[in-house]
Amino acid sequence: MSDDTTALMRRAYQRWAPIYDVIYDKLTEPAARAVVAAVERCGPRILEVGVGTGLSLGYYEPGSEVHGVDLSEDMLRRARRKVERRGLRHVKGLAVMDATRLGFADASFDAVAAQFLITLVPDPEAALDEMARILRPGGEIVLVNHFGQDEGPLAQIEKALAPVSARIGWSSDFKASRVTGWARRNGLEPLPLKKVFPGGFFKLLRMRKPA
Ligand SMILES: C[S@@+](CC[C@H](N)C(=O)[O-])C[C@H]1O[C@@H](n2cnc3c(N)ncnc32)[C@H](O)[C@@H]1O
Repeated sequence: MSDDTTALMRRAYQRWAPIYDVIYDKLTEPAARAVVAAVERCGPRILEVGVGTGLSLGYYEPGSEVHGVDLSEDMLRRARRKVERRGLRHVKGLAVMDATRLGFADASFDAVAAQFLITLVPDPEAALDEMARILRPGGEIVLVNHFGQDEGPLAQIEKALAPVSARIGWSSDFKASRVTGWARRNGLEPLPLKKVFPGGFFKLLRMRKPA
């Protein structure tokens, strides 16, 4: 990511940080719980990329070993406070890091979660390459996001609503097929998209690295 883009993103989330939980906590809880359930099935070593204020950190089992990274120190500060306040001992580390340059060794995690992140990264394929690199064989990348429809009546509605959705960071221009296409080209198996609350607006996408 260029320095300018990084600075813009950090500034945007500096503004979001104080109000983020009030707006998104209940809206994203079912999606976050679905992601946590999926990654925990892969094993205890889990990385959350774009962990933000750590809304999902309380949903993990105590036996998990969760690391979280995010570009925004302002968002991470709130995540650290949650970890301390709630005594979330399964959270092993929270660090400032760019999704396209993850400072972890190859194959060091059983699963990688990224909630409401991938559509924000200017080079999503570079972020996915990094997630795949640090994932062990047989592990999964689990994303949740609003993805635009490729076709059908909903695609037309999304097109009409595009200016509004873009303002809240849920552009419908980004299709899940961009991610599943990346997965197939890179030897990962994309599993069928799962609709989650509200009304399937958010979708969960699992991609399995061959064992
Ligand atoms: C919409 S928030 C989602 C936060 C959290 N995953 C949640 O569901 O509540 C997106 C987060 O991604 C982070 N982010 C954006 N671009 C990033 C990048 N390239 N690398 C790491 N984090 C990034 C932002 O700082 C922000 O905290």
